[in-house]
Amino acid sequence: MQLKGKVAIVTGACSGLGKAIAVRFAREGACVVVVDVNASAIEPTVEELRALGGDAIGFCVDVTKRTDLASLMEKIVEQHDRIDVLVNNAGMTRYRPFQTMSDEDWDLVLALDLKAVFFCAQAAAPHMIRQGYGKIVNMSSSHGTGATPGFTAGSPGGSSAYAAAKAAVIQLTKTLARELGPHGINVNCVAPGFFLTPIHSTTRTPEQIDEHIKNRIETTVLKRTGKPEELASAVLFLASDESNFICGHTLLVDGGRTDRM
Ligand SMILES: NC(=O)c1ccc[n+]([C@@H]2O[C@H](COP(=O)([O-])OP(=O)(O)OC[C@H]3O[C@@H](n4cnc5c(N)ncnc54)[C@H](O)[C@@H]3O)[C@@H](O)[C@H]2O)c1
Repeated sequence: MQLKGKVAIVTGACSGLGKAIAVRFAREGACVVVVDVNASAIEPTVEELRALGGDAIGFCVDVTKRTDLASLMEKIVEQHDRIDVLVNNAGMTRYRPFQTMSDEDWDLVLALDLKAVFFCAQAAAPHMIRQGYGKIVNMSSSHGTGATPGFTAGSPGGSSAYAAAKAAVIQLTKTLARELGPHGINVNCVAPGFFLTPIHSTTRTPEQIDEHIKNRIETTVLKRTGKPEELASAVLFLASDESNFICGHTLLVDGGRTDRM
């Protein structure tokens, strides 16, 4: 059990990749702190994790609201003494052609995919510094490392806001790694390729999703999409003591995307 006795926060833990990470962490013995804005999904997720034999608690928090985050971290420490792991997973996208991208959509995506990563890390850092121990894993994307085609039949538009935010997360990871590393905190990042989760339905029709999956399989060396549990394995590695000498790194978990090669 690689996370036995560790207290691990996963933001956006009620769906998709966050859920897969939470499940894996619970199986590895962590007390998983489920943080999500989707109030009705929190208790069922906590119950599911407990049923796996893990400990879990849940908090309904919008991670874009800075003022709620300091009190969230304090409550966690009050109840569990420490915060060992923070996975900044909560994210969203709006696929729009660049020329029709509104201020509102741009701000929405940047607020969650970039600014909330900064907010959560800043709120958790004092507790990790006090402990002299911490693991922060940020979620970037293959969109943060290469410009993927935005106008395939399966995509209703480009991903300028999402790509800008996810690229910035890689650089934010490096700077946080430098500042927090001397305190015994490892800050790293994962950049997933394509994993079929609800995020892809937010701005696509079922036909567009099918077309998009076809395109993603074609442009992936391994000729398939990823399984959420495969992403969870990579996050577990960066959250565990197996990666103690890794710092400021971005691990691509994308099956080898040819559009960045
Ligand atoms: N699925 C993929 O193919 C893929 C690829 C690359 C990167 N990613 C990244 O992985 C992460 C997870 O994506 P996913 O596919 O599991 O998405 P998802 O839509 O399935 O899950 C996102 C979760 O975040 C929660 N959330 C949304 N806004 C929130 C907020 N303001 N505060 C707290 N929680 C909030 C949602 O309620 C949901 O539970 C995101 O950062 C995404 O950008 C996903």
